[in-house]
Amino acid sequence: MSGLLNQIHVEPSILSADFGRLREQVGEVIAAGARVIHVDVMDGHFVPPITIGPLVVEALAGQVGEAGGMLDVHLMIERPERHVADFVSAGAALVTFHAEATPHAAYTAEIVREAGARVGVAINPATPPNVFAELGEAIDLALCMTVNPGWGGQAFIERSVSKLPGVREAAAEGVAIQVDGGIDPRTAPRCRGAGANLFVAGSAVFGAADPGEAYAAIVRSLQGD
Ligand code: DX5
Ligand code: ZN
Repeated sequence: MSGLLNQIHVEPSILSADFGRLREQVGEVIAAGARVIHVDVMDGHFVPPITIGPLVVEALAGQVGEAGGMLDVHLMIERPERHVADFVSAGAALVTFHAEATPHAAYTAEIVREAGARVGVAINPATPPNVFAELGEAIDLALCMTVNPGWGGQAFIERSVSKLPGVREAAAEGVAIQVDGGIDPRTAPRCRGAGANLFVAGSAVFGAADPGEAYAAIVRSLQGD
């Protein structure tokens, strides 16, 4: 399962799903081939909205696990080190926290790994990638935000494409490179060309009439490179 992070994957983000039909919507993208499901946790402090907590992670863990998939939990919360254990017990296989959200990135990474999950660190568009070099092999994934975090459906920040090679360079060998925000069949291949291998897409998948087909369209856009 953890090997999924080093492959090319499009990750549907449930932030844009219909929460009244969450299992059904997740089932549609799993049926279309999705194996890494992205869960956006927001606390009303690090970012203005409040979204999902461990209860929703727990509600999806069985369904995703049975399909051989994993839950990727993106924490947009202050002091993430205080909440890691709850998300891992709920079923998070990967926990990503923001470098801007804690003075203790190395300590938080250690807590995630000791809890038994893979470790991701995210940076906002205005944050330089050198934190990834500092963390070295303490992390499994580097998330380069391609919008400012907080909402789905924002426009892709174009200069992310020229930032990605620096992220790849700063991250240790074998660390997965993820992009999140404004990813669709047009932007995904450009990020792939700049070094990303994991592509989070919310509104481009769940904003479509057929989420399974919309997921497949992004996968197709990445093929043949
Ligand atoms: C934004 C979240 C994203 C969000 C992306 O803060 O981290 O995961 O779901 O949404 P789209 O794909 O609509 O930009
Ligand atoms: Zn996200």
